[in-house]
Amino acid sequence: MIAEALDLFPGGVNSPIRAYRAVGGDPPTLVRGRGSHVWDQDGREYVDWVGAFGPLIAGHAHPTVVAAVTAALQAGGPFGVTTPAEVRLARLVRERMPSIERIRFCTSGTEAAMSAVRVARAATGRRLLVKFEGAYHGHAEALNDPDGLLVAPYNDLEATSRLPLDGAAAVVVEPVAGNAGVVPPAPGFLSGLRELCDRHGCLLILDEVITGFRVAPGGAQERYGVRPDLTVLGKIVGGGLPVGAYGGRADLMDLVAPAGPVYQAGTLAGHPAVMAAGEATLELLDAAAYGRLEQLGAALEEGLGEHGRVARVGSMLTLFCSDEGTFAALHRRLRDRGILVPPSQWECWFISIAHTDEDVERTLEALR
Ligand SMILES: Cc1ncc(COP(=O)(O)O)c(C=O)c1O
Repeated sequence: MIAEALDLFPGGVNSPIRAYRAVGGDPPTLVRGRGSHVWDQDGREYVDWVGAFGPLIAGHAHPTVVAAVTAALQAGGPFGVTTPAEVRLARLVRERMPSIERIRFCTSGTEAAMSAVRVARAATGRRLLVKFEGAYHGHAEALNDPDGLLVAPYNDLEATSRLPLDGAAAVVVEPVAGNAGVVPPAPGFLSGLRELCDRHGCLLILDEVITGFRVAPGGAQERYGVRPDLTVLGKIVGGGLPVGAYGGRADLMDLVAPAGPVYQAGTLAGHPAVMAAGEATLELLDAAAYGRLEQLGAALEEGLGEHGRVARVGSMLTLFCSDEGTFAALHRRLRDRGILVPPSQWECWFISIAHTDEDVERTLEALR
């Protein structure tokens, strides 16, 4: 299969990280997942700490999610009009993230980030954007092209304050950095950004594609008590199906078409099956679920600490090895013992509510 994939797709994949370049070897050919475990085409079972890079907080094929998606597909659609499923999911999001007064669903985090930036530019009449080293906001050009982009060191408020923020449309930040390994925000960093933005008339955009509904019911904005102007969402809000969303202050979101001049549209935006998966997933995430994620995270963190430096916020964590070669060797050995971790030490391990104490034990045993 891999040889054919290499012939059909650039680098053999539909998203670069899947090529396993950082750890070497061929990626496993996974064909089935259930709860916290996945199986390859030869029937080998693995404990899965990748979780599809974030969306699968309910684990694979959670019965409630599968039932909701199945019912939505059987009901037909998409219908090309707004459906009750969109309204229900938007309501759930707003209850958990009150800063999102209005929301627009789209089909990827990249699209959501790109659109939020367009809203910020329209609202401020400025083009310049500020982001942070090591951040990833999808492949939107505006957030990757050094032209018109200022990049500050993450967690360095002083350096950020020296940037020409009077000319910036927005400061875009992952409230917990998750694409350079997990880096929690330093105390006062996010609230400091909020103050800087207010002082200089630019917008604060929190990219909660990873952290949204993961690090707290209301995401990092709840956990750290910061109110952004706009929020970018993805991953969990679609329950494992393709999704993105952006939302925030009503006056800003009313700049989006057809309410306003920022044209942004999507044939499959708000797809009923995606909305159903998102709704079913969010409903599984009650207080007990977050308690369980925290408990599993703490146990994993403690055990992993013997093997490197661990950074963790709730159910996202990173094991930093001394170098990439050490991590690659560790990745291979874990895989041989039936444990799958992300194929780069700069990606988070994601814990789901389907993980068990036994999964943690098995992982720590394999590491020993
Ligand atoms: C913080 C962050 N923003 C945006 C994105 C892009 O989302 P998507 O892959 O759905 O386009 C990602 C993807 O991993 C992400 O981690």
